[in-house]
Formats: sequence, C-alpha cells, structure tokens
Amino acid sequence: MDHTAPNHDGRLDAYWMPFTANRQFKKAPRLLVRAEGMHYWTDDGRQILDGVAGLWCVNAGHGRPRIVQAIQAQAAEMDYAPPFQMGHPKAFELANRLARLAPPGLDRVFFTNSGSESVETALKIAIAWQRARGEASRTRLIGRERGYHGVNFGGISVGGIVANRKMFGTLLAGVDHIRHTHDPARNAFSVGQPAHGAELADDLERLVALHDASTIAAVIVEPVAGSTGVLIPPQGYLQRLREICDRHGILLIFDEVITGFGRTGAPFAAQTFGVTPDLITTAKGVTNGCVPMGAVFVRREIHDTFMNGPEHLIELFHGYTYSAHPLACAAGLATLDTYAEEGLLTRAADLQAPFAAAVHALRDCPHVIDVRNIGLVGGIELAPRPGEPGRRAFEVFLDCFERGLLIRTTGDTVALSPPLIITPAQIQQITETLRGALQRVA
Ligand SMILES: Cc1ncc(COP(=O)(O)O)c(C=O)c1O
Repeated sequence: MDHTAPNHDGRLDAYWMPFTANRQFKKAPRLLVRAEGMHYWTDDGRQILDGVAGLWCVNAGHGRPRIVQAIQAQAAEMDYAPPFQMGHPKAFELANRLARLAPPGLDRVFFTNSGSESVETALKIAIAWQRARGEASRTRLIGRERGYHGVNFGGISVGGIVANRKMFGTLLAGVDHIRHTHDPARNAFSVGQPAHGAELADDLERLVALHDASTIAAVIVEPVAGSTGVLIPPQGYLQRLREICDRHGILLIFDEVITGFGRTGAPFAAQTFGVTPDLITTAKGVTNGCVPMGAVFVRREIHDTFMNGPEHLIELFHGYTYSAHPLACAAGLATLDTYAEEGLLTRAADLQAPFAAAVHALRDCPHVIDVRNIGLVGGIELAPRPGEPGRRAFEVFLDCFERGLLIRTTGDTVALSPPLIITPAQIQQITETLRGALQRVA
C-alpha cells in the first residue's frame, strides 16, 4: 500500500493512535519502517536521525544484534511461562543483574510491562507496606505539579499534567501535589542543575502540616521530569525532599522511567544526584525498548516486611500475566550486556559537556526562551505562539522530520534524548537541523 497517499480509502482509520492528533496525522502520515543504529527509515526511503531514542527508550541504538538474537532464540526456546507460582531462570538472572546496577539497598525487583504499570506497582507497594508495618492510616499519595507518571489511574492521579487528568473524572482519592520546580525567572539557561529552588522541596512540609504525616504513604517524583518539558532538579532539591520524607516516615519514589539506564550519566539518576529513594520505577531502557517491560526496584527492608506470616500464603496480591515475560527477560539480559560492553550507562557523563555546549548554542535562535540540559537530555523551550500553545514547537518537529531528524515536543518545549551511542558529529547534526527549523518556523 502507498502509505504516503492521502487516506482517501480509510485504510488508516481503524487504528486509534495514542497521544496523537489522529485526524491531522492521517491526512499526512509519518511512517517508520526500519531502524538501525542511530537511524530510522521512512516508508518513502528517507533516513531519519533519531534524536529521542525512539521515545526515550532505545538507549543502545536500534537493531543491536545481540538483543535481536536473544529475542529470536528465546521465542524459539520458550515463548511464554506463567509468572504466578511458577518461574523461569532468566527472570531471576535479570533481577539479580538489575539489582547489582541499582543504588545500594534497592535490590529487590518486581517486573511489569510498562512505565505506567511500574508506577501503579510502586504506589500499591508503598500503601501496602505502610499497612504491613502497622501504619495503615498512611494511604495518601503525594505527587508533584507537572509530573508525568504514565496514564493509569494511579499515575494520572499523582501526575500533574492537566490535559492527562481533566477528562477522566475524580481520579484517586487522597492525592495531593507539591509545587513544580520550573522557575525560568531565576533559572533560565542554566547549564546542568539550576542554582535556585532547593527550598521548593519544603512544600512537602506544607502538605504534612495540612494532612499530617500519619496519613501519607509516599511521595513520587521524576528526578528529571521529561514529558512536562524537561525540568532539571535544582541543586539540593532532591536531597531536601529525601530529608523531609525521612523526618516523617514517608516513602520516596523516584520515577526513573526515562532517566533509568544511563540517560543522566549513571545507571540511574538517583546515582547521578546522590540521593537514594526507597523505590525506583523503570521501563523503556531496561530492554532497550525492544520488548515491553518495566521493573520496580524496592529497598530490601520494604520487601522483607512482606515476607511474613505463613509461608504458603501469597505475600503481595499483585502481578501481571506478562510480568517477567521470557522474551522481555532475554532482551533485558542482552541489553545489559550491550550496555556493559560499550560502557553506555556512563557515556552520557562523558558527552554531557559537548552536548550541553551544542544545545545551549541554540539560545540565540528565534523563539527560544530557555535551554535546559543534564546528561544526554536537552530541553529547548520556545515562546508559544499567541493563542496557539504547542503549535510552534510542533511545526519545528515537522520541519525537522522533513529534514531527516526525529525530535519530540511537549507543549512548546523541544525535548532531545538521543541514543547513548550518539557521536559528536551527530550531536552537531541535531542542533544544526534544529537551528534551521527555528529560523524557518514563524
Ligand atoms: C516518568 C515516566 N513515568 C511513566 C511513564 C509511562 O511509561 P509507559 O508509557 O511505558 O507506560 C513515562 C513515559 O514516558 C515517563 O516518562
């Protein structure tokens, strides 16, 4: 079929596309048909440089032979194994390998199939743990304004992006939010962590004063917020949040669905920023995006609190048919091998300085009102076109795509998160293409 022709015969109609302007897309589809290394190819044969690792997930680049072979071999050897009351060796092996990468103490791993499921899992474990340790009144969950924690009901409840929440009723009860950390008046064009805003963590004290600590189970934040437009934590902010949680017996959950697996220069952002949470949610990079999988890292003592009572009883009534799916586990093991062989989990630290210089060089381009960066994450915020929020950035996205570059936009912020195998020349290609697009788009 000719994918580039207008959709007159309705062949694109059945697929209700996620987080997509369906009618606009189907009038001018953008179809990807092949991927290798740093590139995609479109159905009309154009090569596209991947500036966003697919969707923050293909950290080792596309089509890595070791991962491809592992998935193929696993599909032939054993396609599926039930995860309830049964196991398979690669699930245990992957959990062990992941536990060795995690910050000290977070060495128990619960498998899911997505970031959204990891978030639900972590929130449920937090509430259940408070109950298991005798603090059953701690059921309240605290998120942060502008937070993104996937699309399930727990995640959108603790999340703070209005468009993701407003259509879906009253959400979970007993949720509140601390203030976000975006402060362009003081921090615009900060290189790396902004200097101002550690005190915004004290907003948690306000909620403790309002609700009382005895009602609060956990706080969940993204160490680096991605989907809301790349917000880097101010210096000292995460440390302060950790201290307040400790003072009040509140669990701290880091949602590392995008920051996990090398994005900020260490395996996890917790290590980059030197703050250890009680739970970490991950997905995406755990399998290099090849097979859906998520993993929740849990502090050992939290896990051990559940290992109580008669041994024949299930300790946690939670899990998914596809938890620790054999294909995902095989992909995960091969992904970790690839990361280790090529030093990818720390490569963003080496590339941070040239990457920062390249993205910050865009500050003089038309419309740019802020540039933010950490590791191999860049955010370029544009002034919105009056009355048309998001439109200008989307046109930049379209312009870049026409010229062979895939970026992502959220609101009027361009987000960059290239595969960790990127070369300095490809960093330049990204920023030069963007520069051209910013000059062309009105
Ligand atoms: C911080 C964060 N949490 C959760 C999710 C949801 O992950 P998924 O789309 O795999 O459900 C995302 C997705 O981008 C994310 O950025």
